[in-house]
Amino acid sequence: MSPFQLTRTLPEDATEADLRADVQGGLTRVPKELPPKWFYDARGSELFEEITRLPEYYPTRAEREILVDRASDIAAATGARTLVELGSGSSEKTRFLIDALLPDLASYVPVDVSRSALTGAAEALLAERPGLDIHALVADFTRGLELPDTPGPRLVAFLGGTIGNLLPDERAVFLRSVRTMLSPGDALLLGTDLVKDEATLVAAYDDAAGVTAAFNKNVLAVIARELDADVRPEDFDHVALWDRDREWIEMRLRARHALTVKIPELDLIVPFEKGEEVRTEVSAKFRQAGVRRELSDAGLELARWWTDRKERFALSLAIAR
Ligand code: SAH
Ligand code: TRP
Repeated sequence: MSPFQLTRTLPEDATEADLRADVQGGLTRVPKELPPKWFYDARGSELFEEITRLPEYYPTRAEREILVDRASDIAAATGARTLVELGSGSSEKTRFLIDALLPDLASYVPVDVSRSALTGAAEALLAERPGLDIHALVADFTRGLELPDTPGPRLVAFLGGTIGNLLPDERAVFLRSVRTMLSPGDALLLGTDLVKDEATLVAAYDDAAGVTAAFNKNVLAVIARELDADVRPEDFDHVALWDRDREWIEMRLRARHALTVKIPELDLIVPFEKGEEVRTEVSAKFRQAGVRRELSDAGLELARWWTDRKERFALSLAIAR
């Protein structure tokens, strides 16, 4: 039996149907909006990996620091035999957790919408740990997930601050769905970026080299390719704003001049005024009290809270009640 299996839980045409519905709904509402999961085609996943190495983008390094320091605590506290990771991407930081959980770890279940990210991650992990059992799922973690039947206890990891890319009511639904993946005593390991000064936050989403701008505009390239849309990324500017009331970074694409985006496949012509914006993503920043409350509302009890030395980012370990 091969130690690597990849399961696609969505029918082949579901992604396209989903994309069509999201583009149709998002570009006809006021203000315009596109959901962030469409950033991550193969190119988008590559650009995100580039973001994680930017000098301005501290979250990845901060979270890695915590994982390196705390992996053995996490392994001891959970005794996990199955590690499920949602939005696993390259699984680059996860290796510290995997190595701390071995040899008891029976199965690693990375879940991502990006098939290329999953195959690349599995290849890299297996090169150094040939015996590791990896059961990758191409799936949308905002939909019901059907997890493989692997031994407990189960630890679900959701790293990278990706939870901040969900809106508050989506987070509540999401955390309750995570709770249903767990038995009492099982655990969630949650990475959250923390509220800090505006300059540091904005720079992390608007880097000098323009990688984040390219990443943001990649959603337009996805729409152009998949829906044959007449839309040019160079007609838009990348915008990153700190919303201090809602405590989130908002990413937008702003039309540089009046234009129309034509999507014949959807029978859709979308007018943009000069300066009109599409919201492409929020990235919420957190405080401990809020994380504790959101977890508790979902039936998860905050057991440990760790930050990096500069207190920029937090890892929470929560136990299912
Ligand atoms: N966990 C990694 C990657 C974070 S980037 C890290 O910490 O560096 C967010 C990841 O979530 C990407 O790999 C993206 O493809 C995936 N993703 C985004 N929305 C998703 C969704 N709705 N369902 C599944 N995966 C999703
Ligand atoms: N989860 C990441 C974050 O919120 C995703 C991300 C980083 C991102 N940089 C971005 C998404 C730029 C869109 C645009 O930090």
